[in-house]
Amino acid sequence: MGGLIGLRGVDRGHLDDLLDRGEVYAKQVASREPPSAELDGRIVATAFFEPSTRTRLSFEVAATHVGARVMTFTPETSSTAKGESLKDTMLTLAAIGADVLVVRHGARGVPALAEHWTGLPVVNAGDGRGEHPTQALADALTLRQHFGSVSGLRMGIVGDVRNSRVARSLLWSLPTLGVEIVLVGPSPLLPEANPWDAEVSTELDPVLPGLDVVYMLRMQLERGAAAGLPGLTGYPARYGLDDERMERLAADAVVMHPGPMNRGVELGQRAADGPRSLILDQVRNGVPMRMAVLADCMGHE
Ligand code: NCD
Repeated sequence: MGGLIGLRGVDRGHLDDLLDRGEVYAKQVASREPPSAELDGRIVATAFFEPSTRTRLSFEVAATHVGARVMTFTPETSSTAKGESLKDTMLTLAAIGADVLVVRHGARGVPALAEHWTGLPVVNAGDGRGEHPTQALADALTLRQHFGSVSGLRMGIVGDVRNSRVARSLLWSLPTLGVEIVLVGPSPLLPEANPWDAEVSTELDPVLPGLDVVYMLRMQLERGAAAGLPGLTGYPARYGLDDERMERLAADAVVMHPGPMNRGVELGQRAADGPRSLILDQVRNGVPMRMAVLADCMGHE
């Protein structure tokens, strides 16, 4: 029984197992079959110390779809506001009866600490610039459904790669599944180190026509993305996936984005809403993929 802190070091067999399970759940959810009972009677606690729409809600729906009950902790309305420490909060959630913790925090490493403190399986729902493993898995499932297989695809991750935990989880997992990744953005938004040996480009236009997947990222202003980028106003012109750039995509290329989107900055109307967009499929697949991860945490084969 173990949680999911990150995808770094997760082998191909385990990734394939999770995605296979996600695919089965996706069909089950789409056909509105009754909930599964893998987590029957268990309690999944969500503790989000940063804003979230799709991640928290899809974890909560996923938990109920596998038979669990949900306990939602919100720091703004809880004793965190009275100065209770993170550790005491986590121990409290465990003492009330949580069987699994789903944790999002602005500081990298908090989900791993929560696992250490409580001994419970913890799923990382995004830790600072660290990882966001279930988003990358939902994206991999989306690509698998769309292309049949992900192996051999060339993906450009475009924008604020430096501050993106989603990009890190994609980089730690998709190459294991045979995806080639090129990172695209202005130098101040590209990662300081490149332990993935990913290809890097500071220009989008030369790279664009060779991509099967154009994965756009939001500028993480809350993590200081604007620092060192004086030409922020020129950003959409150089890196935005606007209507004109959409004309230059390869014939079968698709557009992805983990959300939330800043329309008119990193992408335009045609990219976001057009037939090439897989963005709502990514959101949809968050539910079955998180069902798979929760079931995996409780040791269900
Ligand atoms: C992302 C996140 O929080 O890391 N959102 C998400 O969970 N899908 C990306 C972002 O905030 O830009």
